[in-house]
Amino acid sequence: MSNKSLKYFFGRAKKEKWAIGQFNFSTLEQLKAIVSAAKKLKSPVILGTSQGEANFFGLEEATLLRDLYRKKFPYIYLNLDHGKDIDLIKKAIDLGYDCVHFDGSGLDFQENLKITKKIVKYAHKKGCLVEGEIKSIQGSSEIHKELPKEVLLEDIEKAKEFVKKTGIDSLAVNIGNLHGVYTKSIRLKIDHLQKIKKAIPIFLVLHGGSGTSKKDIKETIKNGVVKINVNTELRIAWRETLEKILRKHRGTVKPYNILPKVISAIEKVVTTKINLFNP
Ligand code: 13P
Repeated sequence: MSNKSLKYFFGRAKKEKWAIGQFNFSTLEQLKAIVSAAKKLKSPVILGTSQGEANFFGLEEATLLRDLYRKKFPYIYLNLDHGKDIDLIKKAIDLGYDCVHFDGSGLDFQENLKITKKIVKYAHKKGCLVEGEIKSIQGSSEIHKELPKEVLLEDIEKAKEFVKKTGIDSLAVNIGNLHGVYTKSIRLKIDHLQKIKKAIPIFLVLHGGSGTSKKDIKETIKNGVVKINVNTELRIAWRETLEKILRKHRGTVKPYNILPKVISAIEKVVTTKINLFNP
């Protein structure tokens, strides 16, 4: 077990104005790359598994490997990202995930509030943090051609009520951020983040860390974001590198001759992000 909790690092990040990266994974290469970057930079890191990633990789496998890697570098944490299935969320909490993100954004506000509150009660008994989401963060962790038609911004009054009544530890904010990488660039609404920060005392989380400009990322950290989620850029590094090597070495069938390059490419992305979030 890590001797410093994720909450401890969120608190420090808030005070010292830096952010912890959450990097999603669904393969061992991605996991090895994230852990290696965190260890070399001596930076705490969150391993993220969405429902799809968790179902593919296995919740047990994820927790066992987190525990194993913690023996080499202690500040490695696990978050269930965009959990919607209550049974899966409970299982993750029971297995010892450090944090679960309940994404009730598809539900009616009151229903979301009610379920989130129940999850908070269950999770806190087991020392697990809970991230909430009110308005859905648009996009998905892929490459997109078209931007969504509308920019969604958090309703501050609703967010205040939600945070107060649910007891969540952190909130995934809507400030024009999107999941995925887009051919057109997006700008975050930093003025809206400032309003959220003034109104809400809990930890703020930025989803959609891929493809966002360095300047915007820096501004979000300056204005209270303590956790930034990254997925698509890691997936792109995984696929592009794997394709390139397989094409170059057509006769090769030894995975251990191919996959180290994939790990290095992903590690490079993670290293760049950690250096940006936590210089
Ligand atoms: P990106 O895929 O845009 O990096 O977003 C990841 C994310 O926010 C996971 O919750």
